[in-house]
Amino acid sequence: MNYRFSGRMGRVPESFLAELFRVSAVPRVISFAGGLPGSAYIDVTGIRDAAREVFAEDGRKALQYTTTDGYLPLREFIADRYRRRLGLPATPEEIQIVNGSQQCLDLVAKIFLDPGDAVGMERPGYLGAIEAFSLYEPVVHPVPLEEDGPNLGAFESVVRKHVPKFFYGIPNSQNPSGTTYSQEKRRGVAEVLEGTGTVFYEDDAFGELFFDGQPRPPVKRYLPDQTVISGSFSKIVAPGMRIGWIFAPVPVLREFNVAKQAADLHSNFLCQVILHRYLATHDLDAHVRKISAVYGRHCRLMCDLLDDLMPSGMTHTNPEGGMFMTAALPSGVSSMEVFREGVKEGVAVLPGVPFYVNGGGEGTIRLNFSAAGEEEIAEGMHRLARVMRRLA
Ligand SMILES: Cc1ncc(COP(=O)(O)O)c(C=O)c1O
Repeated sequence: MNYRFSGRMGRVPESFLAELFRVSAVPRVISFAGGLPGSAYIDVTGIRDAAREVFAEDGRKALQYTTTDGYLPLREFIADRYRRRLGLPATPEEIQIVNGSQQCLDLVAKIFLDPGDAVGMERPGYLGAIEAFSLYEPVVHPVPLEEDGPNLGAFESVVRKHVPKFFYGIPNSQNPSGTTYSQEKRRGVAEVLEGTGTVFYEDDAFGELFFDGQPRPPVKRYLPDQTVISGSFSKIVAPGMRIGWIFAPVPVLREFNVAKQAADLHSNFLCQVILHRYLATHDLDAHVRKISAVYGRHCRLMCDLLDDLMPSGMTHTNPEGGMFMTAALPSGVSSMEVFREGVKEGVAVLPGVPFYVNGGGEGTIRLNFSAAGEEEIAEGMHRLARVMRRLA
């Protein structure tokens, strides 16, 4: 059979993930290449107890169909958290539940983009967003990411010249760089966008995971009617539940709801009810503090070992939170070579290339510090140092 797939499938950037998963599954390989939260910090007992209570009390209801926007008590919990943590006047009517915040990438692109439309994003940018957007065939305009957020001159020029339908950014502990926007850049981005036809799509997958426990003000605070935020329980409760949300102005949500209904009717209701029960009976703040402290230690350890063990010319970002950092390789060393040689040595890193639209990233790697424990991080960094000394 000669399957006649749509042209858009042929235009999706080639995914490196299949090779990565194959490599990461080899038992002796220590992987800094993936993006998993630490399995040790998933509260299996707490979630099991919540599930038991839900089945015992109202299993039949939790196993029924529900509305597309999601379980109201869960949306109330999320809105209340925005009010309490970030001072945003959120209401449950502005929140819809999705299958992990990854679904927002697909649906936001679906409701805004026609082929050829302009989209702005950070360079480097989140690989999962590049893939999701590419299915809607936009023209992507990357804006260089600096230590404290996007280069504002380049950002303004993209917005004025191309008037993107939306600009996609991750102001908190970005994936892949670990960069956090400064307060000035948050304000600057909002000032440039204000009054234009460009929406700010604020992906806040990591905003709860600052090592110092202090939330940073979202761009939405400065640009409430023009910003959509996506959030997720993946990194703070459990990614396998696939529960995230979108927090957006009501006119955006109306369209989003239509697209979501057409895609899957609603997100897994059983998981929504169990998750809500878990959140109502456990202290999420304490849990988040614990995870953030652990990731902070992992991150510091990784930074120290990079500084101590790697050849000169290798630098790295210094994340304030999240799960990732980016390292720049000494000049002339290719990230694909580090990947291949690393696997032979028993350590996997993610080459930077897929995070760059229109080419680039050959001299960078992304390192994850949430999945491996401290001993594994130490051993993996020693293995990486052997590879780097051979290649540099
Ligand atoms: C920046 C960013 N956004 C969105 C996602 C999607 O996560 P989920 O669908 O589990 O919420 C990820 C996953 O790692 C991510 O790194």
